[in-house]
Formats: sequence, structure tokens, C-alpha cells
Amino acid sequence: MKQYHIVTYGCQMNVSDSERLAHQLEEVGYTQTEVLEEADLILLNTCAVRENAETKTYSHIGELKKLKNKNPDLIIAVTGCMAQKNQAEMFKRAPHIDIVLGTHNIKHINEMVEAVRTTKSHQINVDMDNSVLPELEAKPSGTFYAWVPIMNGCNKFCTYCIVPHVRGREISRPIESIVNDVKKLGAEGYKEITLLGQNVNSYGLDFKDGTHFGTLITALDHIPGIERIRYMTSHPQDMNKEMIDALAASSNVVTQMHLPLQAGNNRILKKMNRSYTYEHYKNLVDYVREKMPDVVLTTDIIVGFPSETEEEFQDTLKAMKEIRFDMAYSFIYSPRSGTPAATMEEQISEEVKRVRLQALMDVQNEISLEINKRMENEIFEIIVEGPSQKDENIWFGRTSGNKMVLFPKDENLHIGDTVKARIDKAQTWICYGTIIH
Ligand code: 5AD
Ligand code: SF4
Repeated sequence: MKQYHIVTYGCQMNVSDSERLAHQLEEVGYTQTEVLEEADLILLNTCAVRENAETKTYSHIGELKKLKNKNPDLIIAVTGCMAQKNQAEMFKRAPHIDIVLGTHNIKHINEMVEAVRTTKSHQINVDMDNSVLPELEAKPSGTFYAWVPIMNGCNKFCTYCIVPHVRGREISRPIESIVNDVKKLGAEGYKEITLLGQNVNSYGLDFKDGTHFGTLITALDHIPGIERIRYMTSHPQDMNKEMIDALAASSNVVTQMHLPLQAGNNRILKKMNRSYTYEHYKNLVDYVREKMPDVVLTTDIIVGFPSETEEEFQDTLKAMKEIRFDMAYSFIYSPRSGTPAATMEEQISEEVKRVRLQALMDVQNEISLEINKRMENEIFEIIVEGPSQKDENIWFGRTSGNKMVLFPKDENLHIGDTVKARIDKAQTWICYGTIIH
């Protein structure tokens, strides 16, 4: 019996692709192993969004050499954004890799494994086909939640971002396929689904028949068993009032909205090719808060984009204070070769970037804590996810707004139960609560 082991880096799109790779491998008789050393096939599903993601992966690939020396029949495959970006160069850097599989070719995994077996030679397929999106079944990795890709690719070309270069152009899945997937998941006992796309707000625009993200959200309402619908990621230029109205009217869409701002200064936004102004963003948020008063708003911010001055960075801090996000994922700008920003003049020093990141986190952490403190003594519905990382006697669940609530393990509770919890103590990142029976 052959065993496979998949390591997934990066975003949920990769997690979803890994589930589809797992399904295909199991179709031809592979079984999954959690133990790296036992695997006959190791698949690394990689990320290229920032340089440190690539560095980490190359170091992991380096460590696999020992296993390959011990077991020459071990097959090592690399897929995902870094495989698409670096292509055959990966064999040069790490000749013990057997397969480089591009982001548009995961449907070919089994034939490529077979080719390695028979020919004992490097196999690569990084062709990009922007006209079809194969419908591949997944082996869900969660018990009560599941990922549902609604589209692939991105047409935006933000100047810092490698994604459009490695994932290709936007292609939406037909609405019926998505609805069928969600119905099936609901019938199988999955209660929470996350709709995935690099820019979910441009969903369906490629059909040119009036379909948009709001249409999809409305079509997914009231599907039996589905308690929560999450979606990511949104884009401030494509999100509009019609979509916000559909989100607000839905009975199962969650209260969290992740809406990346990236920067609070208009000159920098323009250089990033984000195609909206801070004022546009702020108006959008005002409308969201009017229609969805409980909204939990999260964002992404990049500090140290080429030529960002101290004053321009201060505009981002001002924006954070004005909008008051529940949480922000903040990143140091990382030049990605092949993107326009990588060759822009006036790159910011690592030292200045680090100082800006810290200043941003200081401002945001204070705001997150203040917002979370308002949850104390309030009751929230959570879905139980299981033991926390640090202590198996402390379990956790998440609210609709995606806030993590920790509570003492309770024999009567199971993973996937929907229960109510009172928040006793709120911190910056987590809350402690008591289950209300
Ligand atoms: N450097 C730093 N952060 C980046 N992101 C995307 N590309 C880069 C880059 N080159 C961030 C953006 C995006 C998030 C997923 O990653 O904030 O929203
Ligand atoms: Fe990258 Fe911009 Fe597309 Fe997001 S919208 S994937 S940041 S190019």
C-alpha cells in the first residue's frame, strides 16, 4: 500500500487544492499518512506571496534530501505558486525533487507520478490554460467546515503581487456547480463553508450575463445544514452596494468581512495599482457598517512599499485609527521578481520597514483589545473546533465574526457542536469564555 503526505503552505486556496490532490491520489489507491518518514510520495504545496515563504520551503526541501538518500524510490513533488513561479529552476536548486507541477495542472498528478516511476526522470508541467477550470473533487480535511473554490486567478495586477502571474486569469465556476457542492456538503453534515477566490467580488463577471457575487450569495441562502458561509478575499474596488445588500440579507453569511486596505495613502494606493482611494474605501466601510451593524472587519496592510515616505506611512496609521478594524494582518513589503514594484526605485530599507511594522502593530493591537473588551459579558454563538494548541484541556470555538473563544474542555461537547458562550475575559487575539447550557 502506497502512502502520501502533503505539506500545505500559504493561503486557503492551497489548502483547497491540497484536498483535491488528496482525492486524486486516493482514487488510485494511495492512503494518507501524517508521518513524513513513512511516505512514498511527499507533496509540497507551496506559496510565493512573500520571499520568506519561499525561503522556508527551500529549507524544507533541503531536509527531504536525507529521506531521499535513505529511500531512492521516494517521490518528491512540488506544486503551488512557488512551483509555478520558479519552474525548472527548482530542479537545479534541488535535484532530488522529482515533479514540478504548476497551479493549472493539479489534475495531472497521478500521470506524473506514474511517469517518474517508469522513467526515473524529472517531470514538469507548468502550462497555463486560462480557458478552463477543471471540476475536481476534494477530500475535505475538516470535520464540520469545508472550502469551496468559486473562481481561480486574478485580473487585478496589484504591482507588488505575484498571484496573477502564477495563478493566471480569473475564471469563475458555474453557479450551479457551486450550489450543488454546497448542498452536498450540507447533506453530509458540513455546517460551515468558505467560498474561496483571490477576488470574490469579481465572481461571475466573466459570464457577462449579469451574474455577480451577490447573485451567488443569494443562491446559497437557506441550503439545509449550512449554518455559516464565509468568503474571502474581497476587493474594495469590486465590492459594491448590491453585493453588500445581498450579504446583509443572507441568513447564513457570517459577520466577518475581510477587506484588504493595503495602505491608507492615495499616492501609495495608486502606485500599488489598487484602483481605489482611501475615501472610496472609507465610504464602502460606512455602508457596510450601516447595513451590517455587527460586522467584524479585518484587513491586510503592507508597510514599506517602494518610496513610501514617513508621512505616507502616518496616513496608514491614521486610517487604522479612523476605521478601527477588529484585526489587521500586516506585512513587510517583499519584492517579488517579475512584478513591477520589485524594480521600482526608492526601495525602503529593512530597518525602516521593521520599525513601521511594529508601529502599525502597536496601534492595531490597542484597537483590537478595545473592540474585544466590548465583547465581555456578552453571549456569542460559537462552533466548537476542538482542543487548543497549547493545552488539550482547553478547547476553542469561533464566533461568526471569526473571534477565537477558549473554554474549559467539557465532556458533553463535541467538535462541530454549535453552542452559546459568554465571554468572561477578552484579550487582543483571543477571548476566554464559559459555555452556556
Ligand atoms: N509583499 C508583502 N505583502 C504582500 N502581499 C501580497 N504580496 C505581497 C508582497 N509582495 C500581502 C497583501 C495581500 C496578502 C495576502 O499578502 O497584503 O492582501
Ligand atoms: Fe494580488 Fe491584488 Fe489580485 Fe489580491 S487583488 S491576488 S493582492 S493582484
